[in-house]
Amino acid sequence: MHSAQAWQPVVERMKQRMQMMSGRNMMGMMPDIKAPMDSELKVLIAYLKKYAQKPIDRSQYEDLNSTTGRSFDAVCSQCHALPDPKQHTVEEWPAVVQRMVKNMRLMGKSVPDEETIETILGFLQKHAK
Ligand code: HEC
Repeated sequence: MHSAQAWQPVVERMKQRMQMMSGRNMMGMMPDIKAPMDSELKVLIAYLKKYAQKPIDRSQYEDLNSTTGRSFDAVCSQCHALPDPKQHTVEEWPAVVQRMVKNMRLMGKSVPDEETIETILGFLQKHAK
């Protein structure tokens, strides 16, 4: 969900939490947290960066100002940066968008109607990789 740049501080914060909680299982009330080693964290950060969200470069997409572009912007920037359509192919986008609809339900966001979803998918596929 985060951009490559944003992952580093998130992992740092989680590392501190894990270190704080490791080795104190509070008389069985808390799971015993094992803080990862620095070598493991490096692998994790590399993975997160590789699959990170790629934010759109707005200057490259004049049609963000169209009706379709505006609904894409409104719907797909609620939880993370507005995604770069170039990060997926025409074939990949439908499954990603369907997963996002599930994320919207899970995270208690309103789900746009089928027609709006189709228009947004069209925008993504028009500019796909
Ligand atoms: C309710 C919050 C929410 C909304 C709204 C949302 N997303 Fe996401 N998105 C997530 C979460 C959570 C993740 C990370 C987990 C995952 O990939 O499912 C994510 C990850 C992504 C990724 C990176 C992972 C991948 O498969 O490439 C892309 C691209 C993406 N979203 C595109 C979109 C698009 C396009 C829309 C609009 C149709 C959208 N998102 C709307 C929550 C959301």
